[in-house]
Amino acid sequence: MGKATQDLRKEHDAILHVLNITDKIISSEAEETKKLQFGKELVYFLKTFADKCHHGKEENNLFKELINNGMPNEGGPIGVMLKEHQEGREHLALMNQAVEAVDFTNFKINASNYSYLLRNHIEKENNVLFVMADRLLDETKQDELFEKFEQHEENVIGHGVHEELHSMIHKWSEEFEMH
Ligand SMILES: [Fe+2]
Ligand SMILES: [Fe+2]
Repeated sequence: MGKATQDLRKEHDAILHVLNITDKIISSEAEETKKLQFGKELVYFLKTFADKCHHGKEENNLFKELINNGMPNEGGPIGVMLKEHQEGREHLALMNQAVEAVDFTNFKINASNYSYLLRNHIEKENNVLFVMADRLLDETKQDELFEKFEQHEENVIGHGVHEELHSMIHKWSEEFEMH
């Protein structure tokens, strides 16, 4: 497994962890105001980490490198992945709207849709796309990509925000007693 795909798999694990927390919180007995506050923080987390940081690395670096190495741009797995990233953004926008409208029922529906979409998406990347990437890209190319990922992460979130995102996960687990 190359350095770049390994980095993305690690981020998948972090996203899946947050989706597990999300599924538990939205179906918990906690007060709706508390769950909506979580919703607001979750939207921020997903926009920053899952979309800007993670999907950004895939779209701006990995997918481009795969296309340069002969993978089709449209009609193949990359086209499907791009479409799903877009669908994720639409679900996120609806989650955000629901939080702003203080509408927990709608938040719950859209958060479940997001969670379902992303779980399937991650499974496809882990089991299909990244396996193809590991076959197509040699170690040097994977190392170069990893360098670009680090640069992207620095530009998009930086160290301070990285810490903030970590402490959010910790706070949610404490607040909703998930140990
Ligand atoms: Fe993706
Ligand atoms: Fe991904």
